[in-house]
Amino acid sequence: MLDLIKAASLKIKSVMTHTPLIYSAYLTRLYGFDCYLKLENLQKTGSFKARGAFNKISSLSGAEKSRGVITASLGNHAQGVAWAASHLGVKSLIVMPQTTAIVKFVATKGYGAEIILYGNYFDEAYEYAKSLAKERSLAFIPPFDDDLVIAGQGTIGLEILAALPDADLVVVPIGGGGLISGISSALKESRTGVSVVGVEAEASQSCIASLKAGHPVDVERKTTIADGIAVKKVGDKTFSIIKNYVDDVVAVGEETISAAILLLLERKKLIVEGAGAAPLAAAMEDKLPKGAKKAVFVLSGGNIDVTMLDRVIRAGMLKEGRIMRLSTVVEDIPGSLARLTAEIAGLRANILHIIHQREAADLPVRMIRLEIILEVEGEDHAERIYKALEEKEYVVR
Ligand SMILES: Cc1ncc(COP(=O)(O)O)c(C=O)c1O
Repeated sequence: MLDLIKAASLKIKSVMTHTPLIYSAYLTRLYGFDCYLKLENLQKTGSFKARGAFNKISSLSGAEKSRGVITASLGNHAQGVAWAASHLGVKSLIVMPQTTAIVKFVATKGYGAEIILYGNYFDEAYEYAKSLAKERSLAFIPPFDDDLVIAGQGTIGLEILAALPDADLVVVPIGGGGLISGISSALKESRTGVSVVGVEAEASQSCIASLKAGHPVDVERKTTIADGIAVKKVGDKTFSIIKNYVDDVVAVGEETISAAILLLLERKKLIVEGAGAAPLAAAMEDKLPKGAKKAVFVLSGGNIDVTMLDRVIRAGMLKEGRIMRLSTVVEDIPGSLARLTAEIAGLRANILHIIHQREAADLPVRMIRLEIILEVEGEDHAERIYKALEEKEYVVR
C-alpha cells in the first residue's frame, strides 16, 4: 500500500491543501504527553474525503472520465467526489437519501455535482446508485473500500511522518475504515514504534463488533452526533488492514464527543464536526494507551451544521454549570424588570433570554413571572447570584 500512497501523494500535491499539524500546549498540559492536531477540517470541502476521491477519479481511464462518475453519500464523501470530479473536468452524479439535510445537498450541488434524491435511508440510495452506475456505464466511486481511495486518505500519514517523524501515537476516527487503513499503512509500512488507535462512536461500533466476530458484521446504526462515522459495516479491504495495522479500537460517548467539539472551539478556535472530534474524546475518556510521548489527533472534518454547533455549545455550557435558569415573580409595574436586571448586571451575569409570563393560574393579579436564562462563570457564581437575589427578597427558583 505504501507505494500506492506515495503515488497518491504526488497526484494530490498541487491541488489539495497540505493541512497544518499544530502543537497544543493546553492539551499537552491536560494529558501529560505532547499533543498535536492534524487539521483536516481545513482540507478542501471541509474534510479529508477529497483526498481519496481525487486520487480515485484522477486514476480512471480517459473513457471512464468522459462518461462520468457516480456515488451515494449523505455527507463528506459526496462533497469530496463532487469537488474532485469538477476539478478534473469530470461529470459527477450523487445519489442522496430524500432525508438529507438541506445544507449538505446545497454544498454538494455547489461543488458542481448533479444530485438525485432517492429513498429514505442511505442503503436505499447506495443500491440505487450502484444500479444507475451499471445502467449508465458510470464509474462508481466507493466511500472507503477501495485501494485508491484508501491510498488517497493515506497521504495524511505521510504528511504526519514528514512533520513529526517521532510521533508514537496517532489517533484516527473509524467509519468504514478507509481513513485509518490509509494512515496506518503509511505509518506502519514506513517505520516501527508508532501505535495507531481507532475511535468509533458508542452508538455505532461496527469495527469493534467486526474485530470481535473476526469478520465484518452489520451493526444497528443509532443516531450520533458523529454522523460521519455512523457506518453499518466496515469494508472487507479496510477490515483486513485494520486487523494487521491498528493497535486498538475504542468507543466514545456522545457527551464526550460534544465536549471535545466545544473544547476545540473554545480553546483552539477550531470548528470540528463530531466524527473529527472523536479522537480527542478518546483522550478525554482516558482510553488511549499509557506511555505515549508524542500523539497526533486526526481532526478529520469540520462540516458541522451551525444549528448543531449551537446545540453543542448550549449543552456543554449547561453541563459545565455556565448556564443558569431562574424563575421569579415581580410586580407588573414600570421599572420592576429594570431593577431586577440591574441587580443581575451588578452580579456580573449575562442575560441570554427573558420570558414574561402573565397568564398562569397560580399568579396573583398585577404580578408577572420571569423566566431568565443567564450566562454565569460556573456553579459557585450561580449560587452567589441565587443567594444575593434572595437577600433582595426575590423569591427565586
Ligand atoms: C469527518 C469524517 N471523519 C471520519 C470519517 C471516517 O472515514 P472512513 O469511513 O474512511 O473510516 C468520515 C467518513 O465519512 C468523515 O466524514
